[in-house]
Amino acid sequence: MRSTVQEGGHLGVMIAEVVAGLEPVAGKRYLDATFGSGGHAMALLDASAPDGQVLGLDRDPAAIERGQSVTDRYGGRIRLYETPFADLATALSEHGWDRIDGAIFDLGVSSQQLDTAQRGFSFRFDGPLDMRMDQGRQTQKTAAHLVNELDVTALTRLFFQLGEEPHAKRAARAIVLARSREPLQSTRQLATLLEEKLPGGRPGLHPATRVFQALRMAVNQELEQLEQGIQAAMRHLAWGGRLAVISFHSLEDRLVKHVFKAASTPPPVEGPLRLLPHVRLPAPPFELVTRKPRIPGENELRTNPRARSAKLRIIQRRAPS
Ligand SMILES: C[S@@+](CC[C@H](N)C(=O)[O-])C[C@H]1O[C@@H](n2cnc3c(N)ncnc32)[C@H](O)[C@@H]1O
Repeated sequence: MRSTVQEGGHLGVMIAEVVAGLEPVAGKRYLDATFGSGGHAMALLDASAPDGQVLGLDRDPAAIERGQSVTDRYGGRIRLYETPFADLATALSEHGWDRIDGAIFDLGVSSQQLDTAQRGFSFRFDGPLDMRMDQGRQTQKTAAHLVNELDVTALTRLFFQLGEEPHAKRAARAIVLARSREPLQSTRQLATLLEEKLPGGRPGLHPATRVFQALRMAVNQELEQLEQGIQAAMRHLAWGGRLAVISFHSLEDRLVKHVFKAASTPPPVEGPLRLLPHVRLPAPPFELVTRKPRIPGENELRTNPRARSAKLRIIQRRAPS
């Protein structure tokens, strides 16, 4: 299947693998929890023609606004909700759906978010240190608040835990010293400071990469949102329904792997039942479709740099036996 260039230039990642994994069919209901520019949503709609339906969520009002062209194109088959993962169940219930036949989460930020200097996600452009995916609808604290308010210990912990930054303490100290002269307000200020103070990492990795990742994850509470979102999606999967998650760094992938493993592992047998090998215990409610994460093919890696670190995991709800 072709990769889809959506409006604004975002190139959907692993679209063919997601469609192959979710096996969409006509008449069924699908959730795209990270609508973005609609690459996965449109692929699901095409594969479930003529009457499969998609509910698309995104916490970014700009994505929902842009999505109007997709809703126009597919008529009543798709509805969009401006909703964070944590409120996914509310959106489903507002839409009158209790069960879904498949769901996709394509994590992280979109090219539109990254390439809009004003949003403050990128150290490649100069913009305000904002990074709020929802543009302040619910999220109050920006990246500027964090770098100007947290103390050295809290900043160090943040950069180490969410950025896996080996020089977390050095970055934190440099920030606290710099802000004592003037507050850090722009991406350029922060990127330049980190470039000056941190040793160059591996080639191709800008010294500010990990700190920017940590700030973005903290501002948007990404790991908390992810855990709540995938748990909610799993609760709403119909029997045989599948959930696909594409992650882009190890913290996300580890969380997804852990949640999927817990849901697909039989509970430990306790008490006398342990001694009766012929007793058939109930199977766990989910099974792994991907034992190891799938990664993009060479062709996609060549044409879409964003796909470089993508990992796709899929789980399926078992029908009761
Ligand atoms: C990588 S983009 C998705 C791209 C999309 N699959 C496509 O093909 O165009 C991720 C999108 O998910 C949204 N997003 C990220 N975290 C979210 C959350 N916790 N709740 C709702 N939307 C979220 C972002 O705003 C962004 O638009």
